[in-house]
Amino acid sequence: MQGSLPAAVPLCPSAALADGGRAWVWDVLEFGQPASAFVLRFDGQARAYINRCLHVPVELDWQPGEFLDADRRFIICSVHGATYEPADGRCVGGPCGRGRLTPVRVAEVSGQVCWYPSRDIRPVPAASPRASAADESPP
Ligand code: FES
Repeated sequence: MQGSLPAAVPLCPSAALADGGRAWVWDVLEFGQPASAFVLRFDGQARAYINRCLHVPVELDWQPGEFLDADRRFIICSVHGATYEPADGRCVGGPCGRGRLTPVRVAEVSGQVCWYPSRDIRPVPAASPRASAADESPP
């Protein structure tokens, strides 16, 4: 096994995700590079993906946390309108080809949405407290 993976990481209360509503967005490291991920509720299930279009590697949301189209049926890219199936991230229209969004494993436990880091997608380390203290040098 290559290093231990963190256990489930709490994200938000389950009640924060309305069915077909806004997503919860958070920062991750994907292959060691900064990225963002999002979780939304669709047909009652929490679904999570890396926030990156398959057409051009840009973030998908047209407003912070807003990923679904006007009918609340598909995830839609704000740039050129590629559409994705919320249940599995598969591209179903527009210039995103035959691929699918990169899934992030999530689960709901006792009213809490959690995500599970993987070998490729990991939490952003907590900021070092020394970083802010260094800014307060004496005159
Ligand atoms: S960048 Fe997403 S559809 Fe073009």
